[in-house]
Amino acid sequence: MSERIIIVEDDQGVRFFLEEALKGEGYRVDSFESYEDASKSISNSTDLLIMDISLPGLDGLSATTEIKNKFDVPILIITAYGTKKNALEAIKRGATDFFVKPILLDELKVMLKRVLGTRRLKKEVEELREKELENHIFHGVVGKSPQMKEIFKEVEKIAGKGLSVLITGETGVGKEEIAKLVHLLSKRKGEFIVVNCASIPDNLLESELFGYEKGAFTGAVQQKAGKFEVAHRGTIVLDEIGEMSPYLQAKLLRVVEKQEIEHLGSTKTKKVDIHVISTTNRVLENEIREGKFREDLFFRLSQIHIQIPPLRERRADVTVLVDYVLRNIEQETGRVVMISDDAMGLLMDYSWPGNARELIGIIRRASVMCDGDVIGLDDLPLHFRAEHPLSGSVYSDQSLDDAISVLEKNMIVDALKKVQGSQARAAKILGISERSMWYRVKKYEIET
Ligand SMILES: Nc1ncnc2c1ncn2[C@@H]1O[C@H](COP(=O)(O)OP(=O)(O)OP(=O)(O)O)[C@@H](O)[C@H]1O
Ligand SMILES: [Mg+2]
Repeated sequence: MSERIIIVEDDQGVRFFLEEALKGEGYRVDSFESYEDASKSISNSTDLLIMDISLPGLDGLSATTEIKNKFDVPILIITAYGTKKNALEAIKRGATDFFVKPILLDELKVMLKRVLGTRRLKKEVEELREKELENHIFHGVVGKSPQMKEIFKEVEKIAGKGLSVLITGETGVGKEEIAKLVHLLSKRKGEFIVVNCASIPDNLLESELFGYEKGAFTGAVQQKAGKFEVAHRGTIVLDEIGEMSPYLQAKLLRVVEKQEIEHLGSTKTKKVDIHVISTTNRVLENEIREGKFREDLFFRLSQIHIQIPPLRERRADVTVLVDYVLRNIEQETGRVVMISDDAMGLLMDYSWPGNARELIGIIRRASVMCDGDVIGLDDLPLHFRAEHPLSGSVYSDQSLDDAISVLEKNMIVDALKKVQGSQARAAKILGISERSMWYRVKKYEIET
């Protein structure tokens, strides 16, 4: 299929000349007198736009900005002799190149070959990347690292076998994502219900899970089904199970063993078919040792235990996650955003205390921040760059004391995140005393 070129030029003579010349070269050509006329025809499948800089209506410069915001189309600017400054401005706004009237056919041909050749290559690279990405997405979950591939395999093997699943890992590693995957592959007909055990007080959680009869407590104006019933023949995810009170732990144990529940305010038992997945970022074995979590419940809930390693221990997933987010942005907005090698290098080295959730947030933010269509070092947040030992430039305009303070604060914040805010454990990681940790937390006003 020959390439598709759009010409926007108000000078009839130049327009005819270009159209004939390009058609003669075998391209498919459409030409228009103004950007307004052309705009409906421009899309990502346009291979090249040749546009005069001075046009009736929206001028070529503003049109360049508008097109570049929406589409990934190379633009060649035509300018009159003596207005080179404008042409340079157009390039700043994303045009690929320019040529000066009068147009020399040979010069034009060479330029077309170069621009279209680059575009073809870029498309090929994109297609390859897309294929590569597809290879590493398993039912919507991204994973290229051996650890994630292993998890996918395990989920495939266990799904639908009726075993309870415990999923553990740091915040943002994708515990809920994997829980969804287990449900999806289990082909259970019922709903996928997530209940957060940390965000609501005990008595509310109890009524939420078990349901109640009218008049069971003040405010129970009518009967209500509990989440266990709603998840009948489906999956219930008990999120942050480590936060559940001893009282509810005991009640839960009964539910999973007997597969039956009672509404609050009723003694009538009801049979339910539930599949329980629990998630936590705590180490439940420690909670058991400290007497905070029932061991019998732990065994009952963890017939299968899936541990998702933190992102920093499976760096192969960083690149595919980035590609995945960039592809989603393209699908949502039509904008093609890429990332520079420098920026990617920094991402690969970063410690990712917030794991995949943090990565997704950072890429989305950077894609909004970046001026052109490439995310560079400058588009990454400062604290992020500061962590990098080689990014001296971040500090270069500060005094030594200020720079050290920034570094110190960032390291403390990251360490605290890793250990869910425990100052004692963070102090250990950083090799300082608890006292000096406490002092610094105060000094930098760090919220714990
Ligand atoms: N492997 C992955 N592929 C695609 N998206 C992912 C992946 N891992 C995490 N995410 C995304 O990152 C975000 C956080 O994931 P999720 O909610 O599953 O984490 P979590 O481990 O449950 O975190 P928390 O402990 O804070 O509840 C979500 O938007 C999720 O879609
Ligand atoms: Mg979660």
